Amino acid sequence: MIMDKRNQLRQLESEIESDKSLPLQESNLVFGEGNIDARVMFIGEAPGSTEDLQRRPFVGRGGQLLNKILTEIGWKREDVYITNIVKRRPPDNRDPLPEEIIVYQPYLTKQIEIINPKIIATLGRFAMNYFIPTAKISRDQGKIFRVGRRLMMPIYHPAAALRATNVMKDFKASFSKLIKAVAKADELLSKQ
Ligand code: URA
Repeated sequence: MIMDKRNQLRQLESEIESDKSLPLQESNLVFGEGNIDARVMFIGEAPGSTEDLQRRPFVGRGGQLLNKILTEIGWKREDVYITNIVKRRPPDNRDPLPEEIIVYQPYLTKQIEIINPKIIATLGRFAMNYFIPTAKISRDQGKIFRVGRRLMMPIYHPAAALRATNVMKDFKASFSKLIKAVAKADELLSKQ
């Protein structure tokens, strides 16, 4: 019998939970949440302290900005799916290490396959470079790329937008571009 998406996600979450070979075991698993049929999947880098406490992605200051901008463009947080490349918090909010990113990769790959979004919107440099190693955030944010069967749009990390006004401007502008990309996704994906 083919399992439905919700059960597939539940099973994946418990696989990650029971994989004790994964690094960062001292923090909680932050699996991801949202609409399991979302056309847009947001992917950040790794949970921070608030996310670790609540076991939910993007619920700290950056998450509040994300919620605010989603509301401004007429979407709801519950309409999209949100997760991270690394599913547990690195200590002291340090950047995730390459070896941490690699070992969580098979799980993220499965999670993307199950959700099956048309567009992956990466938040920040690490998530962008996970899909396109040669991309540069200042040059490529807000652009649409094709990654396999999906579109991908790099967006600045909300924490970076909170630190600099010019980044905030681009961060907000990329969400308007994202709406257009969603509307055109099928057409863009049907080309070649
Ligand atoms: N930053 C991230 O990249 N992910 C989160 O879930 C929270 C903050």
